[in-house]
Amino acid sequence: MTIRASDAAGSGRRELGSRAVSDEPLPPRQRLAAMRQVYGSVGLSEADLAPTWSAMLERWLGEAEAGGILEPNAMVVATADADGRPNARTVLLKGLDETSLTFFTNYDSAKGQELAVNPVAALLFPWVELQRQVRLVGPVHRLDAAASDAYFASRPYGSRLSALASPQSRVLADRAQLEAARDALAARYPEGGDVPRPENWGGYVVVPDTVEFWQGRADRLHDRLVYRRGADGAWVTERLAP
Ligand SMILES: Cc1cc2nc3c(=O)[nH]c(=O)nc-3n(C[C@H](O)[C@H](O)[C@H](O)COP(=O)(O)O)c2cc1C
Repeated sequence: MTIRASDAAGSGRRELGSRAVSDEPLPPRQRLAAMRQVYGSVGLSEADLAPTWSAMLERWLGEAEAGGILEPNAMVVATADADGRPNARTVLLKGLDETSLTFFTNYDSAKGQELAVNPVAALLFPWVELQRQVRLVGPVHRLDAAASDAYFASRPYGSRLSALASPQSRVLADRAQLEAARDALAARYPEGGDVPRPENWGGYVVVPDTVEFWQGRADRLHDRLVYRRGADGAWVTERLAP
């Protein structure tokens, strides 16, 4: 039988897309193996591609926004330390142009330290509800200070104080330590006045050389189309096996 949302609510079980669920609740590990969405037949063909990766990403970002995705500009940023140990976390895309993507963070954070020794990142937009993902890889550099100042100044007062108060990725004794630091800064920089951008907070610019657009298809025969910059600097598009 297929459990309806109302049944699932009554029994404490969740609806798992279109899959058939037996009356007996499965243990969590088996539930993971059984979760299965049927993907659509709407494909991504070479003819659908915009002339550039950035125009294509802009189009899909617009469709993610129109499709009701919560925080469509949320993306996973993967970095690695000097030993190649990987790390990933979500940030918000705050700038996109023909050559690059920009996000903002603390330069002394774990990601900042990893980018200092290994200035390359992989980005991932996981638009699962649309059966889409976009993956990008490329070198990273810091945004210039004036542009970071301008973006910092545009942020809400509370966010600016928090950026100043939080030694991102460091161990805290407790939450009270963080709130005390924020309150002290609020007393020093009252609302309505200037809050200086911390020197260790600013933008990173990712300049992708590989950008993949993935569209889920029926029977897991998905579409993967990639824009890749070759050694001569020219962009080519390729189809990858799913
Ligand atoms: C939806 C979402 C958006 C986020 N946006 C940012 C962001 O723009 N910048 C940022 O530094 N952290 C952001 N975070 C928090 C990061 O995921 C992460 O916890 C933080 O940057 C510390 O990561 P690190 O210790 O690996 O450097 C966001 C988290 C979520 C879930």
